[in-house]
Amino acid sequence: MEKKTCLMLGAGGMAGWWIRNAFPRFVDRMTVVGLVDIRENVLHDSGNLLGIPGSARFTDMEEAFAKTEADFCVIVTPPWVHEQAVMLAVEKRMAILSEKPIADSWKACTAIYRAVAAAGLKMEVIQNYRYEPTMLTVRHILRSGRLGRINYIVGRFADDYRRYGSWGQFRHEIPHSLLVEGGVHHLDMLRNLSGGDTALISGSEWNPPWSSFKGESNALFTLTMTNSVRAQYEGSCNEAGVVNGWHREYYRVECEYGSVTVDSDLVVRIWERSEGRSCKMTEVPLPNPTYSGHLWQLDEFLSWLDGGREPDTVLSDNMQSAATMFAAIVASGDAATVDVQKMVQAAMQV
Ligand SMILES: NC(=O)c1ccc[n+]([C@@H]2O[C@H](COP(=O)([O-])OP(=O)(O)OC[C@H]3O[C@@H](n4cnc5c(N)ncnc54)[C@H](O)[C@@H]3O)[C@@H](O)[C@H]2O)c1
Repeated sequence: MEKKTCLMLGAGGMAGWWIRNAFPRFVDRMTVVGLVDIRENVLHDSGNLLGIPGSARFTDMEEAFAKTEADFCVIVTPPWVHEQAVMLAVEKRMAILSEKPIADSWKACTAIYRAVAAAGLKMEVIQNYRYEPTMLTVRHILRSGRLGRINYIVGRFADDYRRYGSWGQFRHEIPHSLLVEGGVHHLDMLRNLSGGDTALISGSEWNPPWSSFKGESNALFTLTMTNSVRAQYEGSCNEAGVVNGWHREYYRVECEYGSVTVDSDLVVRIWERSEGRSCKMTEVPLPNPTYSGHLWQLDEFLSWLDGGREPDTVLSDNMQSAATMFAAIVASGDAATVDVQKMVQAAMQV
């Protein structure tokens, strides 16, 4: 397998995490040949770490694409920068690995989908929580059939971001902050666990008066999936009591013959009630895969570029998660039930 070349968009924040924690694990399969960030200090810190020459460090994305030849780019800039990055990558015919969300509006997601599909390029979207040992285990239990058919799923994310800037400054400033930056992961997880796409969604997002956010930072939504599974999403950035923060979200899946849960203690439990009304609880051992989370996705993306299996979270699939999230915003604003598949079909007609 030939070593792949990469243009990295973003050098600080989460991009700094990628550069320090993900890329070093794949030095035999990829090399970063260009780096972009509007902030010079982080550009040079990360550039030095990667050993990138000054001529391959850029503060302007257009210049970076014009002067860099690479097999693929990794987009780890804030959501409102994703559309420009994808369009430039399409012009240069680079494959794309992008952080969620696809973009900051449904219009931009649609434009991205159409451009990438028309160009016939490969694009994968990061949904790293699918690939954590806990969630791999829950999904495996559900797919194994041990608990029969799925009835409904309850998902909960709640963290204490009551202090301004505690969830990265921009998230306290943008509209729909919980859904755009957080909910897209949890709504994607409800698809991942249910095995269906979202047919209908209703509910509301709001901002309590004491919140440190300008945009909506709480959410309660009900989903009906295309396979008739129901799901409930609870999200809060203002949690003053019991937290289920990142990597420690709560999921409970109610099935025909029992239920499966995972909570902030990261223990996956199966609950099975017998006719005699006693309930047996089984703790399920977790796997220890070579790669999990982001690393799982970088590994599968590089394999895909080499002709390997198409990842589950390719752009066409992830449009379903983005549609669910933007439909939630519409459902809340209009106090209506939104037909998500209608949105997806209209957007994906190229
Ligand atoms: N999957 C996850 O677990 C996870 C976690 C955190 C963030 N993210 C995603 O990663 C992306 C970045 O989030 P973040 O928290 O790192 O944001 P951030 O504000 O820290 O930005 C990341 C970097 O992009 C740079 N940047 C901003 N505008 C730019 C531009 N026009 N051109 C080049 N560089 C630019 C910033 O200077 C910063 O160094 C978002 O899409 C976010 O949703 C994902």
